[in-house]
Amino acid sequence: MSDPEAVYVERNPASRALHERARRSLAGGTTRTTTYFAPFPVYITRGEGARIWDADGNQRLDFICNYTALILGHAHPRVTAAVREAAGRGTAFAAPNPYEVELAELLCERVPSLERVRFCNSGTEATMFAMRLARAFTGRPKLARIEGGYHGTHDLAEVSAHPDPDLAGPADAPLPVPDSPGTPPWAVEATVVIPYNRPDAAERILRAHADELAGVIVEPVIGRPVIPADREFLERLRRVTRELGMLLIFDEVISLRLAPGGAQSAAGVIPDLTTMGKIIGGGLPVAAFGGRREVMELLDPRAEAHLAQGGTYNGNPLGMAAGLAAMRELTPDVYEDLNRRGERLADQAREVFATHGVPVQVNAAGSLFAFHFTDRPVRDHRSAAAADPRRAHELFLGLLNQGVMLAPRAMGCLCTAHGEAETERFLDALEAVVADRAPAWRG
Ligand SMILES: Cc1ncc(COP(=O)(O)O)c(C=O)c1O
Repeated sequence: MSDPEAVYVERNPASRALHERARRSLAGGTTRTTTYFAPFPVYITRGEGARIWDADGNQRLDFICNYTALILGHAHPRVTAAVREAAGRGTAFAAPNPYEVELAELLCERVPSLERVRFCNSGTEATMFAMRLARAFTGRPKLARIEGGYHGTHDLAEVSAHPDPDLAGPADAPLPVPDSPGTPPWAVEATVVIPYNRPDAAERILRAHADELAGVIVEPVIGRPVIPADREFLERLRRVTRELGMLLIFDEVISLRLAPGGAQSAAGVIPDLTTMGKIIGGGLPVAAFGGRREVMELLDPRAEAHLAQGGTYNGNPLGMAAGLAAMRELTPDVYEDLNRRGERLADQAREVFATHGVPVQVNAAGSLFAFHFTDRPVRDHRSAAAADPRRAHELFLGLLNQGVMLAPRAMGCLCTAHGEAETERFLDALEAVVADRAPAWRG
């Protein structure tokens, strides 16, 4: 049996040196917590299609695609051409531009809940504004959220995104838990937590807080790591929020890649507001929030008491042009094909683990997949937290050594540049790592 970390260290001396250098100027040596992993992250120099190259010249297949954002792979020719063209005309103006109108129209046409939309630069901003809109529209102070859902890193998002189950109360009545030092007490007090995929418990909690809740924010598929909601759960949330006068917010920053109209169209459950990011920017920093006209019109600057949404780079022409070029490539057939191939890959991966007698849950939703080292189904935060993170990290490092990159928590996705050859290579790499580690992972 090999030691994946020792092999990784030996093969990536340039990344290691860059990390040591980076630690002297960047806090922790990276500028994004989610790209750090022990012993040091890999520093990427180039990407093309499904392939990426690092500072040591290692070439790998990228099966995380900037945390699912690059649905067309790296440096897609139509996207890079659109960016070049837009950049040649100037990168940002203190004025709206035609690209943003076109991208807004495209999103409103495709995503059922969108009557109006606004752009911003990150999913964090999108969920922050959607939550604020819900408070402004209802006049109520609190938001309900799913235990273990992820909505970015603003204050209200930093409650119960990854709580320690030992500190978070009973599974069917979870307590709000601050996620990081610096999360303000008011954010904890303004948060009501509901469990995922438990409709009765969720309904009971929402009813108990009916007068103070502005809305419920939920990922129709928890993206990190992949946990799909039952349709019945989403339907219940829709029915109860409507009855109690709360807004239902779907955070589709990741799940928009599952269908032209997002997971909401696939589930047939239409929220009041939707947040988006990742794929809609074609690889540039673009996100959006939108929904019912009467809610979104609170942003109309002609109204005296409107909700302000500044943002020096909101709707900037480069991001809008890249997003438009990418979204135009995404016809319904493309989503269908990606989803079919993703589900097949997940089945084949399950076979690899089963052949070696390693207990694992391969959670999948369309083109998204994640490996959880546990013998119990993973349907919510508590069951995900019961999985062994050490094995997931070993799998991640082992695959890196075999030329395949996932997210450090052993989650991945497909992009359109992954053909048969790439998925075969993925499965060969998985077979090599699982065969090597199986004696340790069986126990
Ligand atoms: C569901 C969801 N919401 C919000 C965010 C935050 O987006 P960003 O990283 O662009 O701030 C993410 C990021 O992964 C996400 O997965």
